[in-house]
Amino acid sequence: MRMNFEKKAGCLVTGVAGFVGSHLAEQLLALGHSVVGIDNFASGRKENMASFLDHTGFTFYERSVTQSGLLKEIKEKHPNLRICFHLAAIVSVPFSVDHPELTMEVNHGATLNLLGEAEELDLDRFIFAGSAAEYGNDQRLPLLEEYAMERTVHLSPYGKSKYLASKAVSSRSCGIALRFFNIYGPRQDPSSPYSGVISRFIDRGLSGKPLTIFGDGRHTRDFVYVADGVEAYIRASGLKGSPLSVPPGIYNIGTGKSTAIGDLAEMIKELSENRESLIFSHERPGDICHSIASVESFCKAADWYPSVSLWEGLKKTVDWEARRKEK
Ligand code: UD1
Repeated sequence: MRMNFEKKAGCLVTGVAGFVGSHLAEQLLALGHSVVGIDNFASGRKENMASFLDHTGFTFYERSVTQSGLLKEIKEKHPNLRICFHLAAIVSVPFSVDHPELTMEVNHGATLNLLGEAEELDLDRFIFAGSAAEYGNDQRLPLLEEYAMERTVHLSPYGKSKYLASKAVSSRSCGIALRFFNIYGPRQDPSSPYSGVISRFIDRGLSGKPLTIFGDGRHTRDFVYVADGVEAYIRASGLKGSPLSVPPGIYNIGTGKSTAIGDLAEMIKELSENRESLIFSHERPGDICHSIASVESFCKAADWYPSVSLWEGLKKTVDWEARRKEK
């Protein structure tokens, strides 16, 4: 693999107007790299790019990742392009259930096309946003990367499409798939009932509304703060950290720690000074009980460790949302 560790690299971020994509672009620019961002605003929002839209190192194109020849077009316009971070996807699980074919086309088909182009163009790295949904309801915990396989029963087309795409990416010499567990932080959209639990709890907590727990609060999840996720992307790309490149493959990104939803609700109540009693509602159909990542593999390969505690990450997120609500 050709990795020359120059300070400045041309990076493409698909899904740049999304919650995670916008944080990644911001950090890459802060490190001095140039960034081309694309998004079709299917779920991304222009306001997420506010802090860097006018940065001289940033160029934005409104495009869909299903457009054929997309990477070639970008490379022609930006010959210094070396790394593709592919985050754009259909991210809504219920939408994927209603639109399985479109989900496969966007999350799997478009990834294969971009990956093929990345190889043809001889890019250094193609880094893909995988998901814990690739494990279906596997309850052998903590989850090891090898547990997701052809016979895994995926709970949604979203999970299946991410699994197929991760496998394809990891089979190429430039490919790394990062399987994210429950990532959270500023800019996560709380507006739908299927939004991440932390964004929903913080939104309700700060509005003085009661937090609703689906089930008895004993479900557990592995929550990882967005800055740790961004650091994982950057280390996987070889732009920072040890000069040894991370081998192609699939890696879990989480913290290796589990938190019960009831405990999470209490923490957010305290941080948002919410005094309402919790509401316990019916368990959500299709919810898994427990999820926790084994993160050893990426820690070893990339010398990466999640560094933001849940309390610290929640505090940053609550403070950010409180400031946003004031505006
Ligand atoms: C997450 C992903 C989903 C993916 C799954 C696979 C998000 C938003 N969802 O779902 O795309 O398929 O991982 O691992 O990232 N809860 C409440 N009250 C609420 C909202 C949620 O009690 O208001 C509970 C849920 O019932 C669940 C837990 O909180 O037990 C976490 O929910 P959620 O944030 O939606 O994440 P996952 O279910 O892990």
